[in-house]
Amino acid sequence: TPYENILVETRTGAGSMNYGWIALNRPKALNALNDPLMDELGAALLAFEADDRIACIVLTGSEKAFAAGADIAMMAPFNFANAYRKGLISRNWDTLRQVRKPVIAAVAGFALGGGCEVAMACDLIIAADNARFGQPEVKLGIIPGAGGTQRLPRAVGKSKAMDLALTGRMMDAAEAERAGLVSRVVPAADLHAEADKIAQTLCGYSTLTLMAIKESVNRAYEAPLSEGLLFERRLFHALFSSNDQKEGMGAFLEKRPPSFTHD
Ligand code: HXC
Repeated sequence: TPYENILVETRTGAGSMNYGWIALNRPKALNALNDPLMDELGAALLAFEADDRIACIVLTGSEKAFAAGADIAMMAPFNFANAYRKGLISRNWDTLRQVRKPVIAAVAGFALGGGCEVAMACDLIIAADNARFGQPEVKLGIIPGAGGTQRLPRAVGKSKAMDLALTGRMMDAAEAERAGLVSRVVPAADLHAEADKIAQTLCGYSTLTLMAIKESVNRAYEAPLSEGLLFERRLFHALFSSNDQKEGMGAFLEKRPPSFTHD
């Protein structure tokens, strides 16, 4: 691997599809997000995005930390002028947003500040039972800077988002699941197997369909309901022009497993 702050693998999935596996790997700083790490993450995401044999991507950290936030040592010397001009932290965050394939966050340990924000920028979050989520920026005299005040209230509602961001407290995996931030909680030892299982499942489907679902669900956050429903219906109709729709429905009617060709 040419990377220094992340571990990257291609894992073999169902059919002829594979999935990408990215583990944040800066153990000395609990995977604190600095520019080199974010640059590598952006490059790895784009490489998987460009590979037609990749159906989806898993993003994880270590057992102790998904990521303990943006790198405080890196941020400490900034003033407004250079933070604004350099777009402090914004580099590569848009890359994560632009990936059209599903990205599954598998979170163990700390997901704080920018770490929680990276997880929330993924499409779904599964958590180990030792996961801790929080937006502790308030303690540092700043506010969340990459979606903490925007994605968190959409995920958990205003009251809990305010509670977390105003007090800086951490929320455990059970609370995060109750609140709807996290889709599943598993024992820490099973987290990677669970992520593999989800990725394997997605590898068995049409990537066209997966991308259309992601695009349409994300529309729910951008558009009023009437626009979102229209967008969904257009994509729904469009997929009837695909071979994968013929194959998926044909296979059901013939009582056999489908074999998608992603076209
Ligand atoms: C830089 C960090 C770091 C961070 C941990 N470390 N978090 N370095 N930036 N965000 C370093 C520590 O300095 C320490 O280095 C090593 O990682 C281990 O951390 P400890 O504190 O010794 O571990 P522990 O006692 O287990 O406590 C874990 C922790 C604590 C509760 C997660 O590290 C912590 O509170 N970290 C800061 C969390 C935070 O405030 N995050 C938000 C950042 S602001 P040494 O060299 O001493 O061993 C942010 C803004 C986002 O994210 C803006 C948009 C992206």
